[in-house]
Amino acid sequence: MCCFGFAPNIVLCIQDKKLISLAKKFSQCYLSALLNKNKRNSTVSDTDSVCEWREPEELAALLDLELRENGEPQHQLLQRIRDVAKYSVKTNHPRFFNQLFAGVDYHALTGRFLTEALNTSQYTYEVAPVFVLMEDEVLSKLRSLVGWAEGDGIFCPGGTMSNMYAMNVARYRAFPEVKLKGMWSLPRLAVFTSQQSHYSVMKAAAFQGIGTENVFKVKVDDRGCMIPEDLGETIELAKSQGAVPFFVHATSGTTVQGAFDPLEPIADICDRQGLWMHVDAAWGGSVLFSKEHKHLMRGVERADSVTWNPHKMMLTGLQCSAILLKDTTHLLKHCHSADAKYLFQQDKFYDTSLDTGDKSIQCGRKVDCLKLWLMWKAVGSKGLEERVDRKTFSSPIYLTYVFRFCSVEQPLFVNVCFWFIPPSLRGKENSPDYNDRLSKVAPVIKERMMKQGTMMLGYQPQGGRVNFFRMIVISPQLSHQDMTFCLNEIERLGSDL
Ligand SMILES: *Cc1c(COP(=O)(O)O)cnc(C)c1O
Ligand SMILES: *[C@@H]1O[C@H](CO)[C@@H](O)[C@H](O)[C@H]1NC(C)=O
Repeated sequence: MCCFGFAPNIVLCIQDKKLISLAKKFSQCYLSALLNKNKRNSTVSDTDSVCEWREPEELAALLDLELRENGEPQHQLLQRIRDVAKYSVKTNHPRFFNQLFAGVDYHALTGRFLTEALNTSQYTYEVAPVFVLMEDEVLSKLRSLVGWAEGDGIFCPGGTMSNMYAMNVARYRAFPEVKLKGMWSLPRLAVFTSQQSHYSVMKAAAFQGIGTENVFKVKVDDRGCMIPEDLGETIELAKSQGAVPFFVHATSGTTVQGAFDPLEPIADICDRQGLWMHVDAAWGGSVLFSKEHKHLMRGVERADSVTWNPHKMMLTGLQCSAILLKDTTHLLKHCHSADAKYLFQQDKFYDTSLDTGDKSIQCGRKVDCLKLWLMWKAVGSKGLEERVDRKTFSSPIYLTYVFRFCSVEQPLFVNVCFWFIPPSLRGKENSPDYNDRLSKVAPVIKERMMKQGTMMLGYQPQGGRVNFFRMIVISPQLSHQDMTFCLNEIERLGSDL
């Protein structure tokens, strides 16, 4: 807790002294806006709302967003800060189940404050000496959890970008001429991924000129895991259409159901066909910390690249996403470098291999390693393992145990997917309009929970399944009472449906 209190201060004393008093006031205000008496080491209490829903026009008026000629006095700015906090969603509220992130780690938060205050860019050793070395250490530690003694990698602005990196580097390995000659020099390429993979695969294919029609979707089983036999068949199908397969995008922890694709048989196929195997473990990667649960990703060491977002389950805060590569031939650098002479001079007075910025497709790049490093230092690998084991996996099990609703499938991970069957539909499973009516239930309950601010969880249809709730159970601030509350609350909100 104290970290939260002291972080703004340590951060600010290393910056401009004139800012200190103003910032102190700001941080006090920020704290009082967000902190309560702190019953359970949380920045918000269960009596606070998760959100203060307002219609957009009303919110815009409340915030008085217009920017004017003259500046405002301090007391008014303080009020602005209170308003920003008040009307923002409290993602660290124990009843925020809406996204694949939740909760807050105070060590990581301190790292985030410090990152902002130091305000540097990650591209060269001369401007970010600490962070160049630190990023290297953190990436190498993440790689060792994957099972690689060496390799490469970089922090990216999110898992979507990490996945794009993987696809781009894979294409470059298969067709190095693409960097110079572009798509003119290439045949029609084919990418393979499961029906339930993250939509960033489609974005990457569109962005990189591969085309979304050339992303072949492989079938999944009931739990959402890729069926390897179908991967084999889909590859043959693509070839028969004249496309050239180069990239298989497997998923560890799918976004909706939390499914883990079977990596060993997928790796066998990639080996046989000479394809780049990418594992999108943006969501599920954190199981690698756990001796008990890492079997979910058995075979990951056979992949060529792995995406891993510590900003999801590990609570480091947005953004913290790594693309890890097994490659030791500097593919990442060859693929992306532009050798800017004003940044990456080769006649510098230190080892220029430390200027890692040219591996990136960006120029300036935010420091994303410090928050993870500080948190890891604070609790050790053991502490992170404990988090994954105890806090993360016990909750869904509890939830399934008390389940009064209709579960989509037994959860494999921390995604709990279920339907709430309202009174009017109970026992009507066989009526012809059952699915149609059931599909309208979750959106109504969602609207009511948002407007009352009592909790937040998401819903979606998937495949042949009509709208169901997806509850993400990861917040360390979460108690069993919260989960019971949540189930009761859904029943309350849907009692007249
Ligand atoms: C969240 C997620 C992504 C995208 O990560 P962002 O950091 O939100 O860009 C990609 N793949 C999977 C499986 C995810 O769950
Ligand atoms: C951060 O860097 C920018 C330039 O990139 C500069 O304008 C700004 O004043 C810096 N802020 C702090 C707090 O150092």
